[in-house]
Amino acid sequence: MNEHPSARPPASGTDSAATGMMSGFGNEHATEALPGALPVGRNSPQRPAYGLYAEQISGTAFTAPRAQNRRTWFYRIVPSVVSQGEWRRIDLPLWLTAPSDDGSFPHTQCRWSPQPEPHAPVDFLDGMASYVWNGDMGAGSGLAVHLYCANAPMDRRYFKNADAEMVLLPAAGSVRLRTECGILDLTPGDLAVIPRGIKIAVDLPDGPSRGYLCENYGAPFELPDLGPIGANGLANPRDFLYPQAAYEDIAGEFELVLKTGGAFHACMLGHSPLDVVAWHGNHAPCRYDLRTFNVFGSISFDHPDPSIFTVLTSRSDTPGVANADLVAFAPRWLVGQDTFRPPWYHVNTMSEFMGLLYGAYDARPKGFLPGGASLHNCMIPHGPAPEIFEAASTHDLSPQRVDDGISFMLESRHPYRVTDHAMTGAGLQRDYPGTWQGLKRQFTG
Ligand SMILES: [Fe+2]
Repeated sequence: MNEHPSARPPASGTDSAATGMMSGFGNEHATEALPGALPVGRNSPQRPAYGLYAEQISGTAFTAPRAQNRRTWFYRIVPSVVSQGEWRRIDLPLWLTAPSDDGSFPHTQCRWSPQPEPHAPVDFLDGMASYVWNGDMGAGSGLAVHLYCANAPMDRRYFKNADAEMVLLPAAGSVRLRTECGILDLTPGDLAVIPRGIKIAVDLPDGPSRGYLCENYGAPFELPDLGPIGANGLANPRDFLYPQAAYEDIAGEFELVLKTGGAFHACMLGHSPLDVVAWHGNHAPCRYDLRTFNVFGSISFDHPDPSIFTVLTSRSDTPGVANADLVAFAPRWLVGQDTFRPPWYHVNTMSEFMGLLYGAYDARPKGFLPGGASLHNCMIPHGPAPEIFEAASTHDLSPQRVDDGISFMLESRHPYRVTDHAMTGAGLQRDYPGTWQGLKRQFTG
């Protein structure tokens, strides 16, 4: 399994002409794979071109304010309502949905090693294991984070999640995400946002892949307000890339897996459900290269709160208190003077789940591995490893480049519960809380 990302030219995300993709987070995009397939001047003409069916997918209530309103019009070969045969319940026993009787609140810091590679062929769905969750899917709040490790493509198996918006972050191996809206290719360092209800299939062009899947039950992720930063910075809207329409017009036997209410159901289709020939709208999957994140930080002293690294936010009903913030620790310079430059020791009301996409995380260079995870829940103290404290307290304060890797955090107002699988599995690093105990008493008063 490739543990390092394949190099992508810097800021490729901005070059939509070169990539053939459409640029701009939340924009009203329009694309057609056949000339004239996209109706002009109306959404639902009496007879769409090429004999296509018009179908709207709404990602928000019809009446949501315009700035939050999300919907896309599909022009497809067969409408989604057509299925073949009976739906049957299927079991993905390690994939849990909030709320669940499974899991408990940890009373200490948690860290996990990456999932082992499976011996038998396992696809993206079967290779999914839930690690943490919070909130309540039915109430539209909270999130769950799963770790996947897959070595087989989904091929003719497709997935639709009615429960949540999803964010996919590969940490090893590349991923080809086929969607109703087109194709997104991801390598470690990229993320994909997949809106609720968009059908996908996950293929593995370079072999096995492991990584993270976030299910966001709450408000869709959006770019954070920038406040005094101004009009530019952090994740710039133009670096979010949307695919051009690409449809599959193939007949045969296909399986569609639906997740709804935390249960999985499958039915057979006689056609590929990725048969959208043209679409327009803003409820569509996109890719973002975290290496294009415009990092802001202190140029005088002190490490800012990590909210300065927010890429996307899912708002809650309380202003300023996120259902989930997706935060990235991307390559950057540290220049603070008379400053302890790593994150300080802290005890937060927000709960922090972290993953590492490649390389190393500067505050925890040992034991926190790509594809692994850590959890520091509400009011659980944490901070740099003792050896990092020693080094950062004494090294010279010339400008320092941090570009060893990219990690991310899913910070939530809701404390996470850890699943029984994660709490009892071999991946739990039971010695993790002990790693701070080497911090020496150095009081001189
Ligand atoms: Fe923290």
